Amino acid sequence: MSRLCDPTTLQIVQYPHPTLRHKSKPVRRVDSHLRDTVRRMFELMYEAQGVGLAANQVDLPLRLFVVNTTGDPDEGIEQVFINPVMSRPKGLEEAEEGCLSIPDVRGPVTRPKRVRVQAFGLDGKVIETELEGLTARIVQHEIDHLDGVLFTDRLSTTSRLAVAEALDEFKREFASRRQLGEILSDAEITQRLSDLERRYC
Ligand code: NI
Repeated sequence: MSRLCDPTTLQIVQYPHPTLRHKSKPVRRVDSHLRDTVRRMFELMYEAQGVGLAANQVDLPLRLFVVNTTGDPDEGIEQVFINPVMSRPKGLEEAEEGCLSIPDVRGPVTRPKRVRVQAFGLDGKVIETELEGLTARIVQHEIDHLDGVLFTDRLSTTSRLAVAEALDEFKREFASRRQLGEILSDAEITQRLSDLERRYC
């Protein structure tokens, strides 16, 4: 398979990696390579002790994410949402969020309490579900990722101030890793994402 996205080399990218700002296009084709990629996304999510992971967090421009609300590979239900569409938001609720791409940064985010989500599973079957509580929050957080939105964008001005210094530290770390040649240039990242989109989107 192409070196473009060998599942064994996938890694979670951290803020402010440009792919986290990429608005993903719908997936048009599911093949065994994509299934392996999804499997690896679950593994990376569990290793990082997360409950959800979007494809652009592993540097892929695909409109899909994985969820297990327990964060435990031996418990809960593993769900894959491909090309999710959200509707009928109801109520509002504030809760603290974090993100595997911004480790150790947390803050309160207000989101609809209940939402309806339509998506496809890996088997191509339609998923249509009313969500509430933690699942509703995770799914909304992950759909945001697919649109290039991070939870820190949704913080109040005050809460954003509280995390500003930590985010600056991530920016410095990113700049120095890029200087060391560990991270591709913006142009190379854009090229890579569009090559992948030609294949799957
Ligand atoms: Ni996240």
